[in-house]
Amino acid sequence: RFCPCFRVTLLLCLMGLSCADPVKFIDCGSVSAKVLEVNIVPCPSQPCQLHKGNSSTVNVTFTSGVDSPKSTAVVHGIIAGAAIPFPIPVQDGCKSGIQCPIQKQQMYHYVTTLPVKTEYPSISLTVKWELKDDNTNDLFCIEFPVKII
Ligand SMILES: *[C@@H]1O[C@H](CO)[C@@H](O)[C@H](O)[C@H]1NC(C)=O
Ligand SMILES: *[C@@H]1O[C@H](CO)[C@@H](O)[C@H](O)[C@H]1NC(C)=O
Repeated sequence: RFCPCFRVTLLLCLMGLSCADPVKFIDCGSVSAKVLEVNIVPCPSQPCQLHKGNSSTVNVTFTSGVDSPKSTAVVHGIIAGAAIPFPIPVQDGCKSGIQCPIQKQQMYHYVTTLPVKTEYPSISLTVKWELKDDNTNDLFCIEFPVKII
């Protein structure tokens, strides 16, 4: 028997809206925040597939351990051990679902879209996503595998 919440998830899933299976990630040195959950939409199965010409929404839920008036995202693609800058349209975390100033002990959802350009190569890679605080410490640093198709 499915619990009602599971049924809602399944329904959203079948509608292709959001398959709320949290993304498996590794923490690569979050300093001033703790990541609770990472969601990518669409991502019906993992590793998440990023479709060229489409965009994916990344949603990182975290609790902050510091006060910070601002936050800046830095994204890299790790390909064969090399970290290559992966530009995102909005680097300002405070314009990505976070209400700034960030306050200690508060929970936030960092939500941004990742356009997948058609000129990207069709490869599997690891995405390293950092959100830096005012002192350029990582609020969070997460890594998760993706496949560009
Ligand atoms: C982009 O996403 C839409 C809706 O999910 C889908 O219908 C379309 O085929 C996708 N386009 C590409 C290039 O993957
Ligand atoms: C982000 O994920 C959290 C946790 O699953 C969820 O509560 C929140 O509604 C999501 N936000 C958006 C904009 O998708």
